[in-house]
Amino acid sequence: MKIRLDKYLAELGYGTRSQVKQHISKGNVSVNGSTAKRPETRIDTETDRVLFCGAETVYEQYEYYMLNKPAGVVSATEDRKEKTVLDLFEGRKRKDLFPAGRLDKDTEGLLLITNDGGLAHRLLAPGKHVDKIYYAEIDGKVTPEDAVLFSEGIDIGDEKKTLPARLEILRSAERSFVRVTVCEGRFHQIKRMFHATGKEVLYLKRLQMGSLKLDEALKPGEYRKLTEKEVEELCLPEKKQ
Ligand code: URA
Repeated sequence: MKIRLDKYLAELGYGTRSQVKQHISKGNVSVNGSTAKRPETRIDTETDRVLFCGAETVYEQYEYYMLNKPAGVVSATEDRKEKTVLDLFEGRKRKDLFPAGRLDKDTEGLLLITNDGGLAHRLLAPGKHVDKIYYAEIDGKVTPEDAVLFSEGIDIGDEKKTLPARLEILRSAERSFVRVTVCEGRFHQIKRMFHATGKEVLYLKRLQMGSLKLDEALKPGEYRKLTEKEVEELCLPEKKQ
């Protein structure tokens, strides 16, 4: 792919278009060993070697990260009052990253951060029914009857009942531990499903979305790039169609 030098650098997160132009005019950028002079220089993203302040740049059209979202931050790209999931990213950060889907402010766990709008759509569009798996702690005893209700679909006050969901009871006690699999992404869905059965969610963490599993080595607030295999597996169902 051929792309203007200033666009190339701005897309990779080295600054705004005007900031990277300034860097170019100061002689901080080189292309194939020569100091770049013009922001409009065409870069071949496959073959040209671009250094920014002496450091090698690597062009990727799409970037994919898994974040272990901590409680207390919002799933947005920017917010006037609240800290966002993108505020957790340090250093170079391309400007077109966004969270693919939302977790509530108090929910923890797996959040995909990417600039691949096509993949986000395939994962999130209502008709796609991608499984999402959550671990939850519930105030009160969760019973096998609740699991039957979840499997039949629950009226949570929307036009339609929820689609069948799987409720696995890991421990049933005054504070119950469960795992829930849903294939929709309705607003506050898990909390509203439990509320409809007369119980409240005390803690919620997403463990998996489609094929992508939360890397348990990531502490809340930490993130890492997806491996090539993880990206391939996420994109695979679409390629098969
Ligand atoms: N269901 C909820 O209630 N909250 C979330 O953050 C995700 C699913």
